[in-house]
Amino acid sequence: MSFDRLAPHYRWMEAVLAGGLLQRCRTRWLTDVGQPRCALLVGEGNGRMLVECARALPGCEFLVLDQSQAMLAQARRNWEQTGANQSVVFQQADLREWRAGSARFDLLITNFFLDCFSPTELRRVVANLSAAALPNARWLLADFTVPATGWPRLRARAVLALAYGFFRCATGISASRVADPGELLRAEGFLLQRQERFNHGLLHADLWMRHEK
Ligand SMILES: C[S@@+](CC[C@H](N)C(=O)[O-])C[C@H]1O[C@@H](n2cnc3c(N)ncnc32)[C@H](O)[C@@H]1O
Repeated sequence: MSFDRLAPHYRWMEAVLAGGLLQRCRTRWLTDVGQPRCALLVGEGNGRMLVECARALPGCEFLVLDQSQAMLAQARRNWEQTGANQSVVFQQADLREWRAGSARFDLLITNFFLDCFSPTELRRVVANLSAAALPNARWLLADFTVPATGWPRLRARAVLALAYGFFRCATGISASRVADPGELLRAEGFLLQRQERFNHGLLHADLWMRHEK
């Protein structure tokens, strides 16, 4: 799986297909995460969320992980243009294999990332990320979803069938449909604090918080 080929086109494709909608989802709860000291941005892509994080969280350090070198290079370029002086580390990593070591984070961010994985892979990725989360960590998560009933469900299924067809060809992702990570997050001690749905339920933006055991 690699997003390298897509990286030069990702930004304009998003602008044409979704306008500002995905960015609204990414940033919906950014002002509700308190004052994290160490944030982990995973599958960050071209760095649009990182730039907003730098503005909203001036006291925070960031680790940015992505499997795609081309995406990381774009994120780094976007970051350098901000002139921000927080500490940021960009690192290539496959989250299916990644281990945090001794590092721990009080904010995790996964936007349009968990939907790249099959249910089996998703279990592994959520476990790897949870192992890196402090007991009171927050998790910002934006993704696609399928509403439970009615025409919004039919519409979402049609949109996502097209989207997965495209992404499977262009990047080789293993997922062929959206897997709900909610149950896995709850099993790791996270509780849903806030959720907003967008575009007739096609997208959701969540804030989860881990509660000390
Ligand atoms: C659909 S893009 C989302 C990018 C960005 N977060 C956004 O909001 O648009 C998925 C991102 O996850 C990265 N990715 C996919 N599989 C990965 C993996 N196994 N480990 C780390 N990053 C991965 C891709 O390189 C890409 O940058």
